[in-house]
Amino acid sequence: MRQDWRAAAGGGPRGTVRVPGDKSVSHRAVMLGALAEGTTEIRGFLEGEDTRATARIFRQLGVRIETPAPTLCMVHGVGLHGLRGTPDTLDCGNAGTGMRLLAGVLAGQAFDSVLIGDASLTRRPMRRVTDPLTAMGARIDTGPAGTPPLRLHASSGLQGIDYRLPVASAQVKSAVLLAGLYAQGETVVREPHPTRDYTERMLATFGWPIEYRPGFARLRGGERLVATRVDVPADFSSAAFFIVAATVIPGSELRLQAVGMNPRRTGLVQALRLMGADIREENARDDGGEPVADLVVRHAALRGIDVPPALVPDMIDEFPALFIAAACAQGRTVVRDAAELRVKESDRIATMAMGLRTLGIAIEETPDGAVIEGGRFGSGTVDSHDDHRIAMSFAVAAQVADGEVRIADIANVATSFPGFVGLAVQAGMTLTAVAGSDAR
Ligand code: S3P
Repeated sequence: MRQDWRAAAGGGPRGTVRVPGDKSVSHRAVMLGALAEGTTEIRGFLEGEDTRATARIFRQLGVRIETPAPTLCMVHGVGLHGLRGTPDTLDCGNAGTGMRLLAGVLAGQAFDSVLIGDASLTRRPMRRVTDPLTAMGARIDTGPAGTPPLRLHASSGLQGIDYRLPVASAQVKSAVLLAGLYAQGETVVREPHPTRDYTERMLATFGWPIEYRPGFARLRGGERLVATRVDVPADFSSAAFFIVAATVIPGSELRLQAVGMNPRRTGLVQALRLMGADIREENARDDGGEPVADLVVRHAALRGIDVPPALVPDMIDEFPALFIAAACAQGRTVVRDAAELRVKESDRIATMAMGLRTLGIAIEETPDGAVIEGGRFGSGTVDSHDDHRIAMSFAVAAQVADGEVRIADIANVATSFPGFVGLAVQAGMTLTAVAGSDAR
Protein backbone atom coordinates (compact mmCIF):
# COMPACT_ATOMS: atom_id res chain seq x y z
CA MET A 1 0.00 0.00 0.00
CA ARG A 2 1.24 3.51 -0.81
CA GLN A 3 2.35 5.60 2.12
CA ASP A 4 2.62 9.37 2.41
CA TRP A 5 3.93 11.72 5.06
CA ARG A 6 2.09 14.60 6.62
CA ALA A 7 4.45 17.21 7.91
CA ALA A 8 4.12 20.68 9.36
CA ALA A 9 6.17 23.31 11.11
CA GLY A 10 8.07 21.66 13.94
CA GLY A 11 10.42 22.64 16.70
CA GLY A 12 14.06 23.25 15.94
CA PRO A 13 15.95 19.96 16.24
CA ARG A 14 17.76 19.62 19.57
CA GLY A 15 19.67 16.90 21.34
CA THR A 16 21.82 14.16 19.85
CA VAL A 17 21.10 11.75 17.01
CA ARG A 18 23.08 9.03 15.30
CA VAL A 19 22.02 8.25 11.75
CA PRO A 20 22.38 4.72 10.28
CA GLY A 21 25.47 3.29 8.62
CA ASP A 22 26.92 4.41 5.32
CA LYS A 23 25.28 2.88 2.26
CA SER A 24 28.34 3.02 -0.02
CA VAL A 25 30.56 1.37 2.60
CA SER A 26 27.94 -1.26 3.50
CA HIS A 27 27.49 -2.38 -0.14
CA ARG A 28 31.23 -2.68 -0.66
CA ALA A 29 31.85 -4.47 2.64
CA VAL A 30 29.37 -7.23 1.70
CA MET A 31 30.87 -7.56 -1.77
CA LEU A 32 34.51 -7.74 -0.73
CA GLY A 33 33.62 -9.87 2.31
CA ALA A 34 31.91 -12.35 -0.02
CA LEU A 35 34.97 -12.55 -2.31
CA ALA A 36 37.46 -12.77 0.56
CA GLU A 37 38.92 -15.80 2.29
CA GLY A 38 37.59 -16.06 5.84
CA THR A 39 34.80 -14.35 7.77
CA THR A 40 34.34 -10.59 7.57
CA GLU A 41 32.60 -8.84 10.44
CA ILE A 42 30.74 -5.68 9.44
CA ARG A 43 29.76 -3.41 12.35
CA GLY A 44 27.32 -0.56 11.82
CA PHE A 45 25.96 -2.21 8.65
CA LEU A 46 23.11 -0.28 7.03
CA GLU A 47 19.98 -2.45 7.28
CA GLY A 48 18.37 -0.62 4.38
CA GLU A 49 16.59 -2.20 1.43
CA ASP A 50 19.44 -1.37 -0.99
CA THR A 51 22.17 -3.04 1.03
CA ARG A 52 19.92 -5.94 2.02
CA ALA A 53 19.33 -6.55 -1.70
CA THR A 54 23.09 -6.83 -2.22
CA ALA A 55 23.39 -9.28 0.68
CA ARG A 56 20.46 -11.32 -0.70
CA ILE A 57 22.15 -11.56 -4.11
CA PHE A 58 25.38 -12.88 -2.59
CA ARG A 59 23.35 -15.47 -0.68
CA GLN A 60 21.84 -16.51 -4.03
CA LEU A 61 25.42 -16.86 -5.31
CA GLY A 62 26.28 -19.28 -2.50
CA VAL A 63 27.68 -16.98 0.22
CA ARG A 64 26.60 -17.52 3.83
CA ILE A 65 25.72 -14.19 5.43
CA GLU A 66 24.42 -13.89 8.98
CA THR A 67 23.02 -10.92 10.89
CA PRO A 68 23.28 -12.07 14.52
CA ALA A 69 22.39 -8.61 15.86
CA PRO A 70 20.98 -5.42 14.38
CA THR A 71 23.61 -3.73 12.19
CA LEU A 72 26.08 -6.61 12.69
CA CYS A 73 26.69 -8.61 9.55
CA MET A 74 28.97 -11.66 9.26
CA VAL A 75 29.99 -12.57 5.73
CA HIS A 76 31.56 -16.01 5.28
CA GLY A 77 33.71 -15.35 2.22
CA VAL A 78 34.04 -17.94 -0.52
CA GLY A 79 37.21 -16.55 -2.10
CA LEU A 80 37.61 -14.80 -5.45
CA HIS A 81 36.54 -17.83 -7.46
CA GLY A 82 34.01 -19.37 -5.04
CA LEU A 83 30.72 -17.79 -6.22
CA ARG A 84 28.18 -20.22 -7.70
CA GLY A 85 25.88 -19.24 -10.55
CA THR A 86 22.10 -19.31 -10.26
CA PRO A 87 19.39 -19.52 -12.94
CA ASP A 88 17.33 -17.01 -10.91
CA THR A 89 17.44 -13.30 -11.62
CA LEU A 90 19.39 -11.15 -9.17
CA ASP A 91 17.21 -8.25 -7.97
CA CYS A 92 19.10 -5.09 -6.98
CA GLY A 93 15.87 -3.27 -6.06
CA ASN A 94 16.41 0.51 -6.14
CA ALA A 95 20.20 0.34 -5.86
CA GLY A 96 22.32 1.83 -8.64
CA THR A 97 25.43 1.13 -6.57
CA GLY A 98 24.42 -2.50 -6.11
CA MET A 99 23.80 -3.07 -9.80
CA ARG A 100 26.81 -1.22 -11.19
CA LEU A 101 29.33 -2.70 -8.77
CA LEU A 102 27.85 -6.18 -9.15
CA ALA A 103 28.20 -5.84 -12.92
CA GLY A 104 31.94 -5.45 -12.30
CA VAL A 105 32.08 -8.51 -10.03
CA LEU A 106 29.91 -10.70 -12.26
CA ALA A 107 31.63 -9.72 -15.53
CA GLY A 108 34.55 -11.95 -14.59
CA GLN A 109 32.62 -15.05 -13.45
CA ALA A 110 32.48 -18.34 -15.32
CA PHE A 111 28.65 -18.38 -15.19
CA ASP A 112 25.80 -16.33 -16.66
CA SER A 113 23.83 -13.91 -14.50
CA VAL A 114 20.92 -11.52 -14.92
CA LEU A 115 20.67 -8.32 -12.87
CA ILE A 116 17.27 -6.65 -12.56
CA GLY A 117 15.92 -3.71 -10.55
CA ASP A 118 12.79 -1.76 -9.68
CA ALA A 119 11.04 0.73 -11.99
CA SER A 120 13.40 3.59 -11.07
CA LEU A 121 16.60 1.54 -11.49
CA THR A 122 15.26 0.11 -14.77
CA ARG A 123 15.28 3.66 -16.20
CA ARG A 124 18.92 4.38 -15.24
CA PRO A 125 21.86 4.37 -17.68
CA MET A 126 24.07 1.28 -17.58
CA ARG A 127 26.25 1.74 -20.69
CA ARG A 128 28.59 3.79 -18.53
CA VAL A 129 29.56 0.44 -16.91
CA THR A 130 28.92 -2.00 -19.73
CA ASP A 131 31.14 -0.01 -22.16
CA PRO A 132 34.38 -0.32 -20.15
CA LEU A 133 33.53 -3.87 -19.03
CA THR A 134 32.97 -4.85 -22.67
CA ALA A 135 36.32 -3.29 -23.54
CA MET A 136 37.83 -5.63 -20.90
CA GLY A 137 36.30 -8.63 -22.70
CA ALA A 138 32.96 -9.03 -20.89
CA ARG A 139 29.81 -9.88 -22.82
CA ILE A 140 26.81 -8.01 -21.45
CA ASP A 141 23.36 -7.34 -22.96
CA THR A 142 21.30 -4.37 -21.77
CA GLY A 143 17.78 -3.27 -22.60
CA PRO A 144 17.47 -1.30 -25.88
CA ALA A 145 18.11 2.08 -24.23
CA GLY A 146 21.21 0.80 -22.41
CA THR A 147 19.12 0.24 -19.29
CA PRO A 148 18.58 -2.84 -17.07
CA PRO A 149 18.12 -5.77 -17.08
CA LEU A 150 21.79 -6.63 -17.52
CA ARG A 151 22.51 -10.10 -18.91
CA LEU A 152 26.11 -11.03 -18.21
CA HIS A 153 27.46 -14.00 -20.14
CA ALA A 154 29.94 -16.46 -18.64
CA SER A 155 33.40 -14.95 -18.97
CA SER A 156 36.19 -16.58 -20.87
CA GLY A 157 38.73 -14.20 -19.36
CA LEU A 158 39.06 -10.42 -18.91
CA GLN A 159 41.93 -8.13 -19.87
CA GLY A 160 43.11 -5.19 -17.80
CA ILE A 161 42.29 -1.73 -19.14
CA ASP A 162 43.58 1.83 -18.82
CA TYR A 163 40.28 3.70 -18.59
CA ARG A 164 39.61 7.43 -18.46
CA LEU A 165 36.11 7.95 -17.07
CA PRO A 166 33.94 10.23 -19.22
CA VAL A 167 31.86 11.23 -16.13
CA ALA A 168 32.95 11.53 -12.50
CA SER A 169 31.36 8.36 -11.10
CA ALA A 170 32.52 6.26 -8.17
CA GLN A 171 30.18 3.50 -9.29
CA VAL A 172 31.78 3.22 -12.73
CA LYS A 173 35.29 3.46 -11.26
CA SER A 174 34.42 0.71 -8.78
CA ALA A 175 32.87 -1.56 -11.42
CA VAL A 176 36.05 -1.37 -13.51
CA LEU A 177 38.31 -1.97 -10.48
CA LEU A 178 36.23 -4.95 -9.33
CA ALA A 179 36.36 -6.47 -12.82
CA GLY A 180 40.10 -5.75 -12.69
CA LEU A 181 40.43 -8.26 -9.83
CA TYR A 182 39.56 -10.96 -12.38
CA ALA A 183 41.52 -9.47 -15.31
CA GLN A 184 44.90 -10.38 -16.72
CA GLY A 185 47.43 -7.65 -16.13
CA GLU A 186 46.95 -4.13 -14.93
CA THR A 187 43.74 -2.10 -14.63
CA VAL A 188 44.05 1.68 -14.36
CA VAL A 189 41.19 4.14 -13.79
CA ARG A 190 41.58 7.91 -14.30
CA GLU A 191 38.83 10.30 -13.21
CA PRO A 192 37.95 13.78 -14.53
CA HIS A 193 37.35 14.76 -10.88
CA PRO A 194 38.13 12.61 -7.83
CA THR A 195 35.13 10.68 -6.47
CA ARG A 196 34.57 8.70 -3.27
CA ASP A 197 37.42 6.24 -2.81
CA TYR A 198 35.81 3.56 -0.61
CA THR A 199 36.49 0.76 -3.08
CA GLU A 200 40.18 1.61 -3.23
CA ARG A 201 40.50 1.98 0.56
CA MET A 202 38.59 -1.19 1.22
CA LEU A 203 40.53 -3.26 -1.33
CA ALA A 204 43.69 -2.20 0.50
CA THR A 205 42.11 -3.14 3.87
CA PHE A 206 41.26 -6.59 2.48
CA GLY A 207 44.93 -6.98 1.52
CA TRP A 208 44.73 -6.43 -2.25
CA PRO A 209 47.77 -4.47 -3.52
CA ILE A 210 46.45 -1.21 -4.98
CA GLU A 211 48.00 2.14 -5.78
CA TYR A 212 45.66 5.10 -5.56
CA ARG A 213 45.50 8.83 -5.11
CA PRO A 214 42.70 11.32 -5.81
CA GLY A 215 41.58 10.79 -9.41
CA PHE A 216 43.75 7.71 -10.06
CA ALA A 217 43.77 4.00 -9.16
CA ARG A 218 45.83 1.06 -10.38
CA LEU A 219 45.75 -2.65 -9.52
CA ARG A 220 46.66 -6.02 -11.04
CA GLY A 221 44.44 -9.09 -11.31
CA GLY A 222 45.09 -12.43 -9.68
CA GLU A 223 45.75 -11.50 -6.03
CA ARG A 224 43.60 -12.54 -3.06
CA LEU A 225 41.30 -10.81 -0.58
CA VAL A 226 41.62 -11.64 3.11
CA ALA A 227 38.66 -11.26 5.49
CA THR A 228 38.79 -8.36 7.90
CA ARG A 229 36.62 -6.26 10.21
CA VAL A 230 34.82 -3.25 8.76
CA ASP A 231 33.48 -0.44 10.96
CA VAL A 232 30.86 1.45 8.98
CA PRO A 233 30.61 5.17 9.82
CA ALA A 234 27.24 6.94 10.01
CA ASP A 235 26.15 7.94 6.50
CA PHE A 236 26.96 11.58 5.74
CA SER A 237 24.17 11.61 3.14
CA SER A 238 21.61 10.66 5.81
CA ALA A 239 23.10 13.18 8.24
CA ALA A 240 22.66 15.83 5.52
CA PHE A 241 18.88 16.09 6.12
CA PHE A 242 19.46 16.81 9.80
CA ILE A 243 22.29 19.25 9.02
CA VAL A 244 19.97 21.26 6.76
CA ALA A 245 17.03 20.94 9.20
CA ALA A 246 19.07 22.27 12.11
CA THR A 247 20.43 25.07 9.93
CA VAL A 248 17.09 26.34 8.63
CA ILE A 249 14.78 25.81 11.65
CA PRO A 250 15.02 28.62 14.22
CA GLY A 251 16.06 27.50 17.70
CA SER A 252 17.97 24.41 16.60
CA GLU A 253 21.09 22.99 18.18
CA LEU A 254 21.70 19.42 17.12
CA ARG A 255 24.61 17.04 17.62
CA LEU A 256 25.12 14.32 15.01
CA GLN A 257 27.32 11.51 16.29
CA ALA A 258 30.17 9.77 14.48
CA VAL A 259 29.40 11.02 10.98
CA GLY A 260 31.61 9.74 8.15
CA MET A 261 33.60 12.78 6.95
CA ASN A 262 35.36 11.40 3.88
CA PRO A 263 36.29 14.60 1.97
CA ARG A 264 34.77 13.15 -1.21
CA ARG A 265 31.38 13.14 0.53
CA THR A 266 31.25 16.32 2.56
CA GLY A 267 30.95 19.06 -0.08
CA LEU A 268 27.58 20.04 1.45
CA VAL A 269 29.29 21.24 4.64
CA GLN A 270 31.52 23.52 2.58
CA ALA A 271 28.62 24.82 0.47
CA LEU A 272 26.47 25.49 3.55
CA ARG A 273 29.35 27.28 5.28
CA LEU A 274 29.70 29.53 2.24
CA MET A 275 25.99 30.30 2.71
CA GLY A 276 26.57 31.23 6.38
CA ALA A 277 25.78 27.95 8.19
CA ASP A 278 27.07 27.24 11.70
CA ILE A 279 28.47 23.68 11.58
CA ARG A 280 31.19 22.67 14.01
CA GLU A 281 33.21 19.46 13.84
CA GLU A 282 34.12 17.98 17.22
CA ASN A 283 35.96 14.89 18.30
CA ALA A 284 37.43 14.35 14.80
CA ARG A 285 39.06 10.92 14.63
CA ASP A 286 39.96 8.03 12.40
CA ASP A 287 37.58 5.07 12.72
CA GLY A 288 38.61 1.91 10.87
CA GLY A 289 40.50 3.94 8.24
CA GLU A 290 37.71 6.49 7.65
CA PRO A 291 37.61 10.05 9.05
CA VAL A 292 34.69 10.49 11.46
CA ALA A 293 33.50 13.47 13.54
CA ASP A 294 30.59 14.63 15.66
CA LEU A 295 28.83 17.58 14.01
CA VAL A 296 27.21 20.33 16.05
CA VAL A 297 24.78 22.35 13.94
CA ARG A 298 23.01 25.53 15.03
CA HIS A 299 20.36 27.58 13.28
CA ALA A 300 21.82 30.31 11.07
CA ALA A 301 20.52 32.80 8.51
CA LEU A 302 21.63 31.74 5.03
CA ARG A 303 22.43 33.74 1.90
CA GLY A 304 22.33 32.44 -1.67
CA ILE A 305 25.58 31.48 -3.42
CA ASP A 306 26.90 30.22 -6.74
CA VAL A 307 27.75 26.64 -5.75
CA PRO A 308 31.40 26.14 -6.80
CA PRO A 309 31.35 23.51 -9.58
CA ALA A 310 34.42 21.85 -8.02
CA LEU A 311 32.24 20.86 -5.04
CA VAL A 312 29.60 19.10 -7.15
CA PRO A 313 31.02 15.54 -7.15
CA ASP A 314 31.68 15.82 -3.39
CA MET A 315 28.01 16.55 -2.69
CA ILE A 316 26.34 14.72 -5.56
CA ASP A 317 23.72 13.03 -3.34
CA GLU A 318 23.08 16.17 -1.26
CA PHE A 319 21.52 18.48 -3.87
CA PRO A 320 17.90 17.79 -2.86
CA ALA A 321 18.82 18.91 0.68
CA LEU A 322 20.86 21.84 -0.64
CA PHE A 323 17.89 23.02 -2.75
CA ILE A 324 15.84 23.25 0.48
CA ALA A 325 18.58 25.29 2.15
CA ALA A 326 18.72 27.52 -0.96
CA ALA A 327 14.96 28.06 -0.80
CA CYS A 328 15.38 29.26 2.81
CA ALA A 329 18.29 31.57 1.98
CA GLN A 330 18.19 35.26 1.27
CA GLY A 331 18.79 35.84 -2.44
CA ARG A 332 19.63 33.54 -5.31
CA THR A 333 21.50 30.22 -5.38
CA VAL A 334 22.91 28.97 -8.67
CA VAL A 335 23.78 25.30 -9.30
CA ARG A 336 25.60 24.35 -12.50
CA ASP A 337 27.74 21.46 -13.82
CA ALA A 338 25.40 19.01 -12.10
CA ALA A 339 23.75 17.23 -15.07
CA GLU A 340 24.34 13.89 -13.28
CA LEU A 341 21.41 14.84 -11.03
CA ARG A 342 19.13 14.04 -13.95
CA VAL A 343 20.04 10.32 -13.86
CA LYS A 344 19.77 9.58 -10.13
CA GLU A 345 16.87 7.70 -8.48
CA SER A 346 14.72 10.36 -10.17
CA ASP A 347 15.59 13.38 -12.33
CA ARG A 348 16.45 15.35 -9.22
CA ILE A 349 16.54 18.74 -10.95
CA ALA A 350 13.04 18.30 -12.38
CA THR A 351 11.59 16.62 -9.27
CA MET A 352 12.93 19.27 -6.90
CA ALA A 353 11.77 22.06 -9.22
CA MET A 354 8.24 20.63 -9.31
CA GLY A 355 8.07 20.23 -5.54
CA LEU A 356 9.55 23.65 -4.77
CA ARG A 357 7.13 25.38 -7.18
CA THR A 358 4.22 23.55 -5.56
CA LEU A 359 5.27 25.08 -2.25
CA GLY A 360 5.61 28.57 -3.74
CA ILE A 361 9.37 28.82 -4.33
CA ALA A 362 10.67 30.35 -7.58
CA ILE A 363 13.10 28.00 -9.33
CA GLU A 364 14.36 27.96 -12.89
CA GLU A 365 15.67 24.69 -14.29
CA THR A 366 18.74 24.66 -16.50
CA PRO A 367 20.06 21.61 -18.37
CA ASP A 368 22.78 21.06 -15.75
CA GLY A 369 21.39 22.72 -12.64
CA ALA A 370 18.97 25.33 -11.36
CA VAL A 371 18.58 28.89 -10.15
CA ILE A 372 16.66 29.07 -6.88
CA GLU A 373 15.28 32.25 -5.32
CA GLY A 374 14.99 32.20 -1.55
CA GLY A 375 11.42 32.60 -0.27
CA ARG A 376 8.90 31.01 2.08
CA PHE A 377 7.36 27.58 1.79
CA GLY A 378 3.57 27.44 1.61
CA SER A 379 1.42 24.31 1.90
CA GLY A 380 0.69 21.65 -0.69
CA THR A 381 1.26 18.08 -1.82
CA VAL A 382 4.66 17.18 -3.21
CA ASP A 383 5.36 14.01 -5.20
CA SER A 384 8.64 12.33 -4.24
CA HIS A 385 8.67 10.35 -7.52
CA ASP A 386 9.69 7.34 -5.44
CA ASP A 387 12.98 9.04 -4.61
CA HIS A 388 14.09 8.65 -0.98
CA ARG A 389 16.21 11.79 -0.89
CA ILE A 390 13.46 13.95 -2.41
CA ALA A 391 10.99 12.72 0.24
CA MET A 392 13.34 13.43 3.16
CA SER A 393 14.27 16.86 1.77
CA PHE A 394 10.64 17.99 1.64
CA ALA A 395 10.07 16.62 5.15
CA VAL A 396 12.73 19.14 6.22
CA ALA A 397 11.15 21.93 4.14
CA ALA A 398 7.80 21.30 5.84
CA GLN A 399 9.32 22.14 9.22
CA VAL A 400 9.55 25.80 8.14
CA ALA A 401 6.41 25.91 5.95
CA ASP A 402 3.43 28.18 6.54
CA GLY A 403 0.95 25.29 6.29
CA GLU A 404 0.74 21.50 6.06
CA VAL A 405 2.89 19.69 3.52
CA ARG A 406 1.97 16.24 2.28
CA ILE A 407 4.73 14.16 0.70
CA ALA A 408 3.43 11.40 -1.57
CA ASP A 409 5.10 8.03 -1.96
CA ILE A 410 7.70 7.78 0.73
CA ALA A 411 8.22 3.98 0.73
CA ASN A 412 11.67 4.24 -0.84
CA VAL A 413 13.04 6.08 2.19
CA ALA A 414 13.61 2.56 3.56
CA THR A 415 16.23 1.99 0.83
CA SER A 416 18.75 4.25 2.56
CA PHE A 417 17.37 5.51 5.87
CA PRO A 418 15.29 3.04 7.89
CA GLY A 419 13.93 4.80 10.97
CA PHE A 420 14.04 8.33 9.51
CA VAL A 421 10.64 9.33 10.91
CA GLY A 422 11.50 8.09 14.40
CA LEU A 423 14.78 10.03 14.49
CA ALA A 424 13.19 13.17 13.00
CA VAL A 425 10.42 13.12 15.61
CA GLN A 426 12.93 12.41 18.39
CA ALA A 427 14.85 15.50 17.29
CA GLY A 428 11.67 17.61 17.48
CA MET A 429 10.38 17.63 13.91
CA THR A 430 6.68 17.16 13.03
CA LEU A 431 6.20 14.24 10.66
CA THR A 432 3.67 11.38 10.49
CA ALA A 433 3.25 8.45 8.10
CA VAL A 434 -0.30 8.16 6.71
CA ALA A 435 -2.03 5.97 4.11
CA GLY A 436 -1.22 7.11 0.57
CA SER A 437 -3.38 9.72 -1.14
CA ASP A 438 -4.06 9.78 -4.86
CA ALA A 439 -1.84 12.78 -5.40
CA ARG A 440 -0.77 11.85 -8.92
C1 S3P B 1 27.90 5.93 -5.07
C2 S3P B 1 28.31 6.81 -6.04
C3 S3P B 1 27.49 7.92 -6.54
C4 S3P B 1 26.34 8.24 -5.59
C5 S3P B 1 25.63 7.00 -5.10
C6 S3P B 1 26.59 6.08 -4.38
C7 S3P B 1 28.79 4.84 -4.65
O1 S3P B 1 26.93 7.57 -7.79
O2 S3P B 1 25.40 9.10 -6.23
O3 S3P B 1 24.57 7.34 -4.23
O4 S3P B 1 28.55 4.21 -3.60
O5 S3P B 1 29.76 4.58 -5.38
P1 S3P B 1 27.71 7.85 -9.17
O6 S3P B 1 28.89 7.00 -9.22
O7 S3P B 1 26.69 7.50 -10.23
O8 S3P B 1 28.02 9.31 -9.17
